[in-house]
Amino acid sequence: NSIGNCSALICFQSEGALTVVESTDGGDEEEEEEATVGDEDEGHLEVVQPTELWQTLKPGQAVPAGSHVRLNLQTGEREVRLGEEQLKYWSQEHREEQEALSSFSPDELKRAMKKIKADSISAEQQASAGSRFRPLEELKKDMAELDLLVETDVQIMKRLLEQLNNSNASPEQRVGVLQELEYLVHQVDNAQTLCAMGGLQLVLGGLNSSDFRVQENSALVLGSALSSNPAVQVQAVENGALQTLLTALATAQPLHVRKKVLFAVASLLRHFPLAQQHFLSRGGLQLLAALFRQDGGGVLRTRIATMLYDLISEKRGLEAFLDSAHQERLRQYSRVSLQAELLEDGWCLLVPQLLDSTEHDYREKALRTLLAMAPVCLQEFRSHGSLLDSLVSLRDQYQDLVQSEMILGEENSYFLEMVELIDALHVKMK
Ligand SMILES: *[C@@H]1O[C@H](CO)[C@@H](O)[C@H](O)[C@H]1NC(C)=O
Ligand SMILES: *[C@@H]1O[C@H](CO)[C@@H](O)[C@H](O)[C@H]1NC(C)=O
Repeated sequence: NSIGNCSALICFQSEGALTVVESTDGGDEEEEEEATVGDEDEGHLEVVQPTELWQTLKPGQAVPAGSHVRLNLQTGEREVRLGEEQLKYWSQEHREEQEALSSFSPDELKRAMKKIKADSISAEQQASAGSRFRPLEELKKDMAELDLLVETDVQIMKRLLEQLNNSNASPEQRVGVLQELEYLVHQVDNAQTLCAMGGLQLVLGGLNSSDFRVQENSALVLGSALSSNPAVQVQAVENGALQTLLTALATAQPLHVRKKVLFAVASLLRHFPLAQQHFLSRGGLQLLAALFRQDGGGVLRTRIATMLYDLISEKRGLEAFLDSAHQERLRQYSRVSLQAELLEDGWCLLVPQLLDSTEHDYREKALRTLLAMAPVCLQEFRSHGSLLDSLVSLRDQYQDLVQSEMILGEENSYFLEMVELIDALHVKMK
């Protein structure tokens, strides 16, 4: 099945990486300036050359493969410095060699490497090509370093997981490690490597921590690793992530921790009917309903409503796929008994409460969710004491806002969209 294959592949990849590191470690005195060439299709980006100090990245700037990038949570900006391997070479007085290299552009290096790969030139020809190309042996070393640099994320994660697995690590240290991991696992490969290294269990363990910050950051790492990453979603379910997440969701106290745990739950369920089925059978929707009732501020309510919207419309959107996996997908989703649950847990009367919010955004999310729920909830909506009145009064408000915007000459109004949403719901209720 897909899980086994995925794990095997990951193990193979990470083992391969470690082998490469060991076999070339210490054997290279080559400068590495030119080896830090990024992806070939990134040629048009402005590439920042990292140093051993953290420097801030501006939007649109790229970094060479193997660089170490982190998110500075104080400033919200991305920062870069040399990766582990690069730091090692940096300390080897590479500055002296910089001049010699300056005549040699990344493009030329790539072209030269392609030739070597095709095995079309001999060492002698290479040498006779004059000063434009360096000797074959040097270029081969550069290639080895390129391979080595590409694997650096794996090495970083290995080190981070060792730190996380150290029972003596303080909460502060754990938070630091989790923040670095969070950045790395946005990449699909890295998230899968994390699983293969046994990191999922460690991060899940962080959800049990008595320290809020550790809980919060663990949830964030999980949510990011799970986002659009089916291989990780499957492994997480196999590792019992759903139960741990639901427990954390029920017990986590500060709102900001709950928000992150909810994010992780939503990422786990997205496009994954098996996880959705487990979620429903373990009372996930009742738990969400309880949280919805508790939340006065509306932030959590809105997130929960959005999650419902996603679940409902995902199931309903199936007709859009007509590939060979269609029948299988229908079969899996048919086990997700969402409709009955929505009725049982009183959602048809809960979500309309979100319309009372003063935030346009919250109301918009509520309207979209109500529309998605309408096929199931129509009876409840019609017999609801004040839903129709709320809609009429909201429509007046947004109609006024549309009018005043038209006077200002604005088009494509957000408020017009709100009026349309309200009308659509109104029509269904008639
Ligand atoms: C954590 O440490 C234990 C032993 O202390 C070890 O068995 C386990 O494999 C380690 N886990 C990871 C992910 O490094
Ligand atoms: C979290 O704690 C619960 C109960 O204390 C335990 O059953 C569960 O295995 C723990 N989860 C992890 C991932 O350590």
